[in-house]
Amino acid sequence: MALPFDHRYPAVDDLRQAARARIPGFVFDFLDGGCHDNVNLASNTADLRDVKLQPFYLADHGSVSLETELFGKTWGAPLGICPVGLQGLIWPGACEALARAATARRIPFILSTCTTASLETIGQITAGAFWFQLYNPVDPAIREDLLARAERAGCEVLVVLADVPTFGYRPHDIRNQFAVPPRLTARTILQMILRPVWGMTMLRRGKPTLASLTPYMPANMDLRQLADFMDRTFTGRLTGDDLARLRDRWKGKMVLKGVATVEDAEIAVARGLDGIIVSNHGGRQLDAGLSSIRALGPIVEAVGRRTTVMIDSGIRSGPDIARALASGARFTFLGRAFMYAAAALGDRGGDHAAEILSRQLLQVMEQVGCDRVADLPRHLVRQ
Ligand SMILES: Cc1cc2nc3c(=O)[nH]c(=O)nc-3n(C[C@H](O)[C@H](O)[C@H](O)COP(=O)(O)O)c2cc1C
Repeated sequence: MALPFDHRYPAVDDLRQAARARIPGFVFDFLDGGCHDNVNLASNTADLRDVKLQPFYLADHGSVSLETELFGKTWGAPLGICPVGLQGLIWPGACEALARAATARRIPFILSTCTTASLETIGQITAGAFWFQLYNPVDPAIREDLLARAERAGCEVLVVLADVPTFGYRPHDIRNQFAVPPRLTARTILQMILRPVWGMTMLRRGKPTLASLTPYMPANMDLRQLADFMDRTFTGRLTGDDLARLRDRWKGKMVLKGVATVEDAEIAVARGLDGIIVSNHGGRQLDAGLSSIRALGPIVEAVGRRTTVMIDSGIRSGPDIARALASGARFTFLGRAFMYAAAALGDRGGDHAAEILSRQLLQVMEQVGCDRVADLPRHLVRQ
């Protein structure tokens, strides 16, 4: 059942401001920031907003539907929830709450390898209707164990991550000495005191852990140790052969996330993957990289007829979703938007974000005279 609409937050930016007011500064910086000088972060949204749509007011049209086919299922809207690490540190219980909201809204939820709810918990919450993002473990035994657990939990789509060959260089996190659990300095303690609801909710729900990884990792690591553990355990450096091995092993649908070039997209297609997510990790990895929307065009042109091309990075609104779909993406995913909502509104954040994004997208489609999501490319203004 839909929750009552909260009129205070009609836009993702309202949720971002509310999140900033509810969570400690070092946590907000971790969520909100990009890498290096935040150039890629900014261009993701700016370039997307350069995409223009044209309305056909006089054409015949019927009722608008957001329902979208993807991988043999009909989803409630062409938008899903990105994998995000450490969600329970950003807001306690955020991962579980977003998984619940996705299930209720019939939109895809992607569980990160590095977040605070386990494969088993999310499998239960979603009754197996979730996707799992895999960092590629170096140790074949860990890889096999994670894949077997994902299978047992009912995971529908395996999302293999390509774009973290090394940990992103994030000055704000370095300045804040960001760590898991948070390092107690005078500054972080003050920031936590200034956000008592976050602190009390954290105390009530318990210290967040990297729940899916707990069986493989030592306890209580700081950011440097976590980075070392991630580097040691998950060489993000993925090759075509790694993909082929995973493809052989995983019987369900499999997607490559973090595709930024036609070259990588072609390898994914050649290795038999079912889809790709054009993404630059929300601007958190390669500050000198192209925005996701600018990377999308050539990729759709090259492989769009042979595989399912999806996109994330920089999407903050229904119009942004329409712009991405009109540009040739089959489906969109959002990371920060849903996490701002979870931080701002707790357990009901995911539902609210899905509601405002759906309302906004519906309005755009009604405005331009587009009944079906798949018809949005007809409304693209070619520049
Ligand atoms: C705080 C944060 C943590 C993230 N952690 C992961 C992760 O663990 N695995 C992953 O594949 N992507 C991760 N991402 C990237 C997102 O999946 C997604 O690509 C990105 O957020 C999309 O950009 P957007 O935030 O502008 O929507 C993370 C993003 C953020 C903001």
